[in-house]
Amino acid sequence: MRIKVFAARPDEFEAFSKYEKKYGHELSLESVSLKPETVHLAKGYEGVAFLGNCTVNREVLKKLSEYNIKYIASRSAGVNNIDFSAANEFGIKVSNVSAYSPNSVSEFAVLSALSLLRNLPKSLKRSNINDYSLPGLIGREMRNQTVGIIGTGNIGIMAAKAYKGFGAKVIAYDLYPKENIDDLLTYHSLDYVLKNSDIISLHCPLTEANHYMINKESIKNMKDNVVIINTARGGLINTRDLIDGIYDGKILAAALDVYENEVGILHVDHKNKMIKDSLFNELKSLSNVIVTPHYAFYTDEAVSNMVEYSLDSLKQFEKTKKSSYQVNK
Ligand code: NAI
Repeated sequence: MRIKVFAARPDEFEAFSKYEKKYGHELSLESVSLKPETVHLAKGYEGVAFLGNCTVNREVLKKLSEYNIKYIASRSAGVNNIDFSAANEFGIKVSNVSAYSPNSVSEFAVLSALSLLRNLPKSLKRSNINDYSLPGLIGREMRNQTVGIIGTGNIGIMAAKAYKGFGAKVIAYDLYPKENIDDLLTYHSLDYVLKNSDIISLHCPLTEANHYMINKESIKNMKDNVVIINTARGGLINTRDLIDGIYDGKILAAALDVYENEVGILHVDHKNKMIKDSLFNELKSLSNVIVTPHYAFYTDEAVSNMVEYSLDSLKQFEKTKKSSYQVNK
């Protein structure tokens, strides 16, 4: 298949070259993301590969259908950047790569939680000014924590195993609980999990229904000194309410690999320019908040998987008009 690849990063080039041959595609790589201003680059191609930071809205999908493109493959797991009703209306089949190395994200979530429990960011900052004193660095042990996992899919289950490996008690909420995993975790209502967790670890997709699931009301009901880990999607948290919860002392700390308005901020070097987002800047100023650049996925294994699965999916579409990675009808 002739494929236009959007948002191609240099670290993906090796995998593109390897899997282009394996799946017999012809690729054209673009570093720009897919959005209304760049969609014209897909003209003349049969398939498109893109990432979660692309804007796959109605306007883009309409153009793709005008170019007679029927198959598009996200190299990301999250699909909240895609207008599925428009994709269905224009007869465009969409796939994602949700099964790629879930260890990449789950390990990062647990790393973030351990770092916050042991005040690692604070201690590293202190060592920069040769302050090796102890006051303020006393931590909590993972084995004494109850961890609440929201979303027990590929990543949530791996995270639960890792938290449990450190001795934590794991409770969970999922719209579709899994069976036969009582030895790993126990399912409860969302309310119960939010009320009874020392650490809340978010691993569900962002949908219209759970937008701002972490908000003023839900924060009020959480345990005092709760730690919040978000490696899922920024829109799950109302950032303003999270900041207020930290000011109030209700939330001990938060690790955020994602941010509700992250497009144009995360994955961009702002060293020499101002970030014109006062909410983000306020968040960044808090000493008990870790903000990382949406890179929980970013391991050699995961990057290779993401490229391979998207090209495998487009091959399946080409051969059978269906794909095992397909997310719409
Ligand atoms: P998955 O599809 O395997 O699992 C998602 C789970 O969430 C499913 O069990 C589903 O039933 C559950 N769920 C759906 N809606 C829910 C709700 N409202 N409340 C509770 N549970 C709900 O997805 P996977 O691969 O585990 O990824 C989870 C999310 O992690 C992705 O949707 C994506 O947003 C995020 N992600 C972030 C990355 C990063 O680098 N920071 C990388 C990869 C994924």
